Amino acid sequence: MKRHLLSGADLDRDDALLVLDTAAELASLTDRAVKKLPTLRGRTVVNLFFEDSTRTRISFEAAAKRLSADVINFSAKGSSVSKGESLKDTALTLEAMGADAVVIRHHASGAPHRLAHSGWIQGSVVNAGDGTHEHPTQALLDAFTMRRHLAGGVGDLEGRKIVIVGDVLHSRVARSNVLLLSTLGAEVTLVGPPTLLPVGVESWPCATSYELDGPLKDADAVMMLRVQRERMNAAFFPSAREYSRRYGLDARRMALLPEHAIVMHPGPMNRGMEIAAEVADSNRSVIVEQVSNGVSVRMAVLYLLLGGAQLGLGDDAPTTDPGAEA
Ligand code: NCD
Repeated sequence: MKRHLLSGADLDRDDALLVLDTAAELASLTDRAVKKLPTLRGRTVVNLFFEDSTRTRISFEAAAKRLSADVINFSAKGSSVSKGESLKDTALTLEAMGADAVVIRHHASGAPHRLAHSGWIQGSVVNAGDGTHEHPTQALLDAFTMRRHLAGGVGDLEGRKIVIVGDVLHSRVARSNVLLLSTLGAEVTLVGPPTLLPVGVESWPCATSYELDGPLKDADAVMMLRVQRERMNAAFFPSAREYSRRYGLDARRMALLPEHAIVMHPGPMNRGMEIAAEVADSNRSVIVEQVSNGVSVRMAVLYLLLGGAQLGLGDDAPTTDPGAEA
């Protein structure tokens, strides 16, 4: 593993499988009454969020706490960032406080790279979403969820057909997923209107389509992307209704999927826009499970980056005695 996790491309096949296997081991912890391991005791994880988030922030916080790390939550609102403090000065403050890992979400694409390669901080940097660029832990939790449903929880995703639909242009989730899923051997097809597929997408390791019904027919998983209106500074499609009609996943379209196929969405959803409520709530939807898998995957990432002590999950009960060794 590299020191930082900034991109889906930072993980080769072996690294990706190591994270997914570790996450699977850690997931067993969720079923226990005491959901805590002493592995990262005495280490400090800072969650540095410059952009709104529900799932990702809570998920990283839960992950770090379940490994017994000290967690500092920082959000730009209510901090000196709103007084104009720079990323550099914020980073120097975190370094002075002894952060072992900094989990950063930022509206500017590239901010985590700046933090990781500036020399401002010594610890590991984890990209929790930067602008329209990347969101590697989301891709890992998506791969983890697919692996459970499509590959019996083991091995890679060789030959699985994954269809990712919608606002690819503004989606860091799509970018990281294409990189990671191709590393794991899956065949990805991106579907969306030409205006929402990025320039240069031909060079990505995936196929593209402007039409949804065809790719759905042999998909193993379909991932619907949120239409990210907050990042749109122009009209990318004629109307919400038109978008929904061509690219929304409704019950009729869901019926085109093979029997075993799963429906995914990273959240937050625009119900009625990219996904119909009845589809989001159907028994093919794994959307809520994606959220719980996110905690296990982020635990695995923090554990592997910070080189925690042995997991010791083989024991009957986790060690809860604060003086005991992990
Ligand atoms: C995504 C994000 O923030 O990039 N959500 C998430 O992390 N669960 C996708 C989105 O905002 O649409």
